Amino acid sequence: MKILGIESSCDDTSAALLECSKGGCFVLSESTASQIAIHKKYGGVVPEIAGRMHAEKIVPLIEHALNGKKPDAIAIASGPGLITGLIVGVEAARTLSAAWKIPAISVNHMAGHIHSVEVKSQKSKVKSIGYPALALIVSGGHTEIIKISAPGKYKMIGATRDDAAGECFDKVAKLLGLLYPGGPQISKLALKGSAKAIKFPRPMLDSNDYDFSFAGLKTSALYYYRDNPKVNKADFCASFEQAIVDTLVGKMTRAIKKFKPKTVILCGGVSANRKLRETLGTAVKKISTKSEFLTPALSYCMDNAAMIAIAGYQKAQKKEYADWRKLSADPNWELGR
Ligand code: KG4
Ligand code: ZN
Repeated sequence: MKILGIESSCDDTSAALLECSKGGCFVLSESTASQIAIHKKYGGVVPEIAGRMHAEKIVPLIEHALNGKKPDAIAIASGPGLITGLIVGVEAARTLSAAWKIPAISVNHMAGHIHSVEVKSQKSKVKSIGYPALALIVSGGHTEIIKISAPGKYKMIGATRDDAAGECFDKVAKLLGLLYPGGPQISKLALKGSAKAIKFPRPMLDSNDYDFSFAGLKTSALYYYRDNPKVNKADFCASFEQAIVDTLVGKMTRAIKKFKPKTVILCGGVSANRKLRETLGTAVKKISTKSEFLTPALSYCMDNAAMIAIAGYQKAQKKEYADWRKLSADPNWELGR
């Protein structure tokens, strides 16, 4: 079946058409418009501007992705995210579902990120998720560990109690005068620095749970920079990045040892971070030769509609459709709570 995926939860408007069957899904066409160049000026995403940009782009992007084809179903990321963006995608999906009399599928954006590891073209070979799986989702708004016992069966076993890892990257980058989004800039500068130069805290690493806290690390970075304004920025970035990576990998290691998953997934915008990909990949191999480590191709770490379509197909197989009359955006939809 052909599934149209739609994504508009934050600062990317995206539409993709995928061909899906029991053997998996592959991308027929996709179109994404990033709003980063606009939000950059403000140091972060401005919800009202985001909403307007989504409204401007969504129809042309859908038209481009469909390229004259009619889908069998529409998968829409209806939460979590910014309400100003979510409603634009949801209304587009509702309109097409009603007009074409095809089912809509309400997809959790974080479930989409999990399935981003399975995005492929017709020719590329990508491994599918084996279950049970354990996913570390790290983005600008979320840092969560999700246990997936079977397709669609999610349980959140840990989450950040304050800032998300990506948010921490972005705020510390702002402090250094780097532009939004700060994560990629910090990791670029970090390549030239020493990760051992500054001892930043590894918050909650020894706590007996799977939760995170990044507010303390952010404050510690802030104080350090205030007291040492002439610090070598590359050393500062490398040490700060190492503290985040150690904290994320430390907690994930504890979870892998406990739950012994078949697949370990690293996804979300921060999964584009090379140090994090390498460190977690190595840790997984060390813990168990039986666990497969999956992380998305770099181009699918950020928000995209292809991952939403795959998560939608997984629900479509169980006929978990949403009536267009009842389709609604839920900015606070938590996966597996
Ligand atoms: O998943 P995403 O595209 O949007 C949200 O749903 O939040 O994630 C965006 C986040 C931003 O905080 C950005 O700084 C971070 O991902 N990010 C990175 C890297 N690339 C993107 N953080 C660290 N290192 C990177 N290379
Ligand atoms: Zn996201």
